[in-house]
Amino acid sequence: MKKIHLIVGARPNFMKMAPLYKEFAKYPEDFEVKLIHTGQHYDERMSKFFFDDLQMPVPDEYLEVGSGTHGQQTAKIMERYEEVLLKNRPNLVIVAGDVNSTAACAIDAVKLHIPVAHLEAGLRSFARTMPEEINRILTDAISDYLLTPSPDADENLLNEGVPGEKIFFVGNIMIDSLVQYKEKAKASNILQKLGLNQNFALITLHRPSNVDSEKGLLTILNAFEEVSKSIKLVFPIHPRTTKQIAAFGLEDKVKKMKNLLLTPPIGYYDFLKLQMEAKFILTDSGGIQEESTYFGVPCLTLRPQTERPITITEGTNKLVKLETEDIIKEAKEILSGNIKKGKIPKYWDGKTAERIVDIFIKEKQFAYN
Ligand code: UD1
Repeated sequence: MKKIHLIVGARPNFMKMAPLYKEFAKYPEDFEVKLIHTGQHYDERMSKFFFDDLQMPVPDEYLEVGSGTHGQQTAKIMERYEEVLLKNRPNLVIVAGDVNSTAACAIDAVKLHIPVAHLEAGLRSFARTMPEEINRILTDAISDYLLTPSPDADENLLNEGVPGEKIFFVGNIMIDSLVQYKEKAKASNILQKLGLNQNFALITLHRPSNVDSEKGLLTILNAFEEVSKSIKLVFPIHPRTTKQIAAFGLEDKVKKMKNLLLTPPIGYYDFLKLQMEAKFILTDSGGIQEESTYFGVPCLTLRPQTERPITITEGTNKLVKLETEDIIKEAKEILSGNIKKGKIPKYWDGKTAERIVDIFIKEKQFAYN
């Protein structure tokens, strides 16, 4: 029996770990899987809603670390997860993505000589000012199994000197959840609930580089103001962004935009529905660049670079310069019918969890470093 810990912490982890959890559960003779939630995200709308929609059980361990500076949050996760590892030593720890919980738990495990697998390994924005880029580099450097979503990720790892036998191109695990719940999402009544017809664009915004400076946030809000004169904008707002809008005294500016609908964070099915029905998406998220590519919906990414270049080379994504005029221009291009077509990349097919579990079934003993 192989004992495995699956780590989740922040919203984008849940839809990546759920399919893997379910796939391991098909082999109860081979694996004993425990779900560990660090508590990096704790609001009902950032966590429990997703557990419910993704039909995930209550975590075996909930570390309740909450918010803090990077140092505080990472340290708290490391301190609390190490205790769990010392009490209940697994044979393998699987972490996902690039959040603080990912790097913190990977460091804990390798220091106890427990092998680590990284889901979504090899992605690089090459911008070390992004906290996520540091988490990616750290986690990949110490992981034993690098499970990649796209060939560019394999290439990045090989360029960094990672031995090829540690790299497994398994595909995009987040798309497994999307495929599994697409029909439920189609049936969502969120459009009626929000009083929307089919003519709207969807916005998400939460990157520190976009929302933590007043100038950056204003540049983007001014663009939303102008674009909202041409199309209804739906903006489910991240808690970080709510906090920053209040800190800069910009609440009135946002409220005055008649054609911009602010909502609290939205659950998984409802959000997928909004994505598939939107005319286009304006975002700085990582996962949404990928989901919009899957749906074939045009996506304008409000960032100077992306760690997911395949969404540009093959998908419907486009990077937009962080200038009010550029954002308006790109949105108007789409509204005038100039739409980027894309295709779904290889192995974004709903079978990534199967490919991963297959690897671990074949491993007699998990390799450490
Ligand atoms: C984190 C990830 C980011 C990911 C994002 C998805 C890191 C470094 N960043 O960013 O990569 O794209 O999650 O959402 O791990 N807050 C709440 N309720 C919550 C969680 C957070 O109100 O449940 C507020 C707190 O004020 C907190 C702030 O949001 O200080 C930021 O939360 P944090 O976990 O530090 O980072 P995110 O911006 O959510």
